[in-house]
Amino acid sequence: MAADAPIRIAHISDLHCGSRYHIPSLANRVIDELNELAPDMVVVTGDLTDAGFRQEFKQAHRLLSRLECERQMVLLGNHDARNVGDEHYAEYFGHRSQELTHGCLRVVGIDSSEPDLDSGRVGRNRYRWIEERFSEPDEFKVLAMHHHLVPVPRTGRERNIVFDAGDVLQTLSRSGCDLVLCGHKHVPNIWRLEDMLIVNAGTACTHRLRGRVRPCYNIIEVFDHSRVKVSLKEPFADPVLVEDFTAAEKRHCRWRSDDGSLGSAFQPRPEAEDLL
Ligand SMILES: [Fe+2]
Ligand SMILES: [Fe+2]
Repeated sequence: MAADAPIRIAHISDLHCGSRYHIPSLANRVIDELNELAPDMVVVTGDLTDAGFRQEFKQAHRLLSRLECERQMVLLGNHDARNVGDEHYAEYFGHRSQELTHGCLRVVGIDSSEPDLDSGRVGRNRYRWIEERFSEPDEFKVLAMHHHLVPVPRTGRERNIVFDAGDVLQTLSRSGCDLVLCGHKHVPNIWRLEDMLIVNAGTACTHRLRGRVRPCYNIIEVFDHSRVKVSLKEPFADPVLVEDFTAAEKRHCRWRSDDGSLGSAFQPRPEAEDLL
């Protein structure tokens, strides 16, 4: 992979189709922006719907079917697992565990949800499977799931982190996982743990928000095993580089606002404000 031609992943999350907080015009804008960006893959880390109802899945499927990107991964969230929503998910989006590869990149997506619970887990029976999927030493390894793996700042009381987070972290560390993509908290964040980046996406197109965080998604560029850039993208605004991780130099440049959060530095813009 040439240093000047990164693999680009668009990471969106928490669409909540069917919710009164879902903003259809903003959802369409996000899809238009992604089609213009033409990333190598799009990963959607769950909460496609608000209550797992068939009509909500239909709406989410109609929205996501507008994506022109060939490589798409769409995962279940806790809201999708309500009301036996996994049956509709299977009809519209297929298997609950998914895998994408492109160049040296392997993305393994898992269902971290449990029926009618907000909390999540990966589960002991999948640790070995994850290690097997990540057994190729030269690949850049990405795990995607809905629930967050480590606490996210500025999200209030901690809850719903995967029950078995410690064992999952050990599995990922042992597997040489490079990047973890999560959603759920509707607050963007990045942690570095050893040489692994853990990236949370905000909600792409709802005003189900916390504090001053605004709807947003992530654009991730993987240059090689030693360099990853993450940009935060608010619909209608230019992307803002928030992470430029260079492992070889142990350099970790992160942009944050004065209050320490990634998302709250975005000031309301008139054209975006009109949508809310
Ligand atoms: Fe959500
Ligand atoms: Fe969620």
